[in-house]
Amino acid sequence: MKLILLGAPGAGKGTQSARISEKYNIPAIATGDILRGAIKEGTELGLSAKSYMDAGKLVPDDVVVGIIRDYLSTDACKNGFILDGFPRSIPQAEALDAMGVNIDVVLSIEVPDDKIIARMSGRRVCRCGASYHVDYIPPKVENVCDKCGEALYVREDDKAETVANRLKTFHTQTEPLKEFYAAKGILATVEGQEEVADTTALVFETLAKVER
Ligand code: AP5
Repeated sequence: MKLILLGAPGAGKGTQSARISEKYNIPAIATGDILRGAIKEGTELGLSAKSYMDAGKLVPDDVVVGIIRDYLSTDACKNGFILDGFPRSIPQAEALDAMGVNIDVVLSIEVPDDKIIARMSGRRVCRCGASYHVDYIPPKVENVCDKCGEALYVREDDKAETVANRLKTFHTQTEPLKEFYAAKGILATVEGQEEVADTTALVFETLAKVER
């Protein structure tokens, strides 16, 4: 299964990608996580990406295309993968095509902007990669990660002003990908539900149809 997850910031791509990865036993490649990791480590990549991310803009295409090319050439991806957060623009999608990668399905998780804003303001994350929501997916102990016991924190780009810019970037640069992939006949859409498990059920239903 070679799968692209599309959706606005906060639509639930990371949440669903973790569940798909477990069920299908394929790696999830999340460009946002890779870039945040580089920022944390203070690498050259992180230093160059930070200003774009803090402003809610896309990191330049050549940077993320290079990251994806490296990941997809590893053995871990030979039986399939999930791309979470890539491609995010038509030039990125064209670069993926040029790599000769045949995607089985592009799954777009649809969530209206007002719900996105509520989700982002309540998101709490952990350095181990786990993600929670204060109301929808609360940790067992407030502000403490269920998985590793570390303190949770608010992601730098989840501040209201940055979220508004990220949504603008999504509508202008990423949303046109729906038409791009619909024209190739591989776009599937799922309405994001109030409950994570309900969205997961719709996602699995859609992927089962692709497998047939
Ligand atoms: P990235 O990290 O990819 O952020 P994003 O796409 O904006 O997506 P998020 O991680 O914010 O949200 P998500 O859809 O994964 O939702 P989640 O599951 O966490 O990118 C960050 C930045 O990196 C970009 O702005 C850009 O600068 C740069 N970048 C990354 N890729 C790039 C690329 N290809 N090109 C250029 N630049 C790039 O869910 C959100 C919240 O809602 C959580 O709290 C969750 O618990 C909750 N939730 C999830 N599902 C539900 C549900 N069904 N009901 C209720 N709550 C839910």
